[in-house]
Amino acid sequence: MIGTDTTWIDPANEDQLKAWETREGVFWAERAALFEHSLHRYDDWLLRAAGIRDGDRVLDIGCGTGSTTRAAAWLAGSGTALGVDLSSPMLSVATRSARDTGARNARFLQADAQVYRFEPETYDVLVSRTGCMFFADQYAAFANLAAALKPGGRVALLVWQHPSQNPWFTELTTALAGRELPAPPPEAPSPFALADPSRVADILTSAGFDTPECESFKEPTYWGPDVATAEHFVIGILGWLLNDLDEVGRAQALNRLCATLAAHLGPEGVTFPSAAWLVTAHKPT
Ligand SMILES: C[S@@+](CC[C@H](N)C(=O)[O-])C[C@H]1O[C@@H](n2cnc3c(N)ncnc32)[C@H](O)[C@@H]1O
Repeated sequence: MIGTDTTWIDPANEDQLKAWETREGVFWAERAALFEHSLHRYDDWLLRAAGIRDGDRVLDIGCGTGSTTRAAAWLAGSGTALGVDLSSPMLSVATRSARDTGARNARFLQADAQVYRFEPETYDVLVSRTGCMFFADQYAAFANLAAALKPGGRVALLVWQHPSQNPWFTELTTALAGRELPAPPPEAPSPFALADPSRVADILTSAGFDTPECESFKEPTYWGPDVATAEHFVIGILGWLLNDLDEVGRAQALNRLCATLAAHLGPEGVTFPSAAWLVTAHKPT
């Protein structure tokens, strides 16, 4: 079931709402299987770190099309998993997939996790697969999420390390832009907003969690079985880099992109190295 509580969207998150509700969210929802599979090599690490037990109530933040929510619901058994996201197209897919796979204890809610008034001290585990980097105010968001967790509750977040450790980002943006782009500012909402472990520690301890552990994991990300599929996938995600190019510039950028993708084509399809932090923390009892 999809709740419709968007009353609590923080105005500073409205750009994210627009993007995930339209362009990015629709593209993602139409290719849910590919997006879900793209990070599958991290799934076991994340779920193991979350330590979900039978009966747990789990919150999956920025759940997207719900692959982590479904896995969490299965592990929670007699418990429940609530996937929270801004994007109604993605949540529609999440709801359908949960129904089709028999994940009856998975629920979904459209809300801004930074400000939504969760029932206080209700959840045992907070989990997120790359869904917590887009808050305008990370400090407010994690304080809000901490209030929703029971004392003793656990957090397990998968977040990207710095772009310099993530060739999927640097090589693909360099191919499209024709030059190396500067890393996004660390405080702006972006895939890299939680890349600095000392900032993560400051945000989580300010929210009342104990000092988090950030463990480094390096896994290949999957972009499709062949160059043509991967090209389409990349353009859907990073195509804004082509916006200001004329026809010749665009053709050159696409040639560079295809050459880069071809260089990463192997027996498992097109893959790029990546590096993520697995952040774990507890709310003190
Ligand atoms: C990179 S996607 C990750 C999706 C999913 N966890 C996965 O791994 O496939 C980030 C998700 O965070 C969601 N998101 C961004 N800001 C949010 C907010 N303030 N509250 C809830 N969800 C948010 C987006 O709508 C998007 O679905």
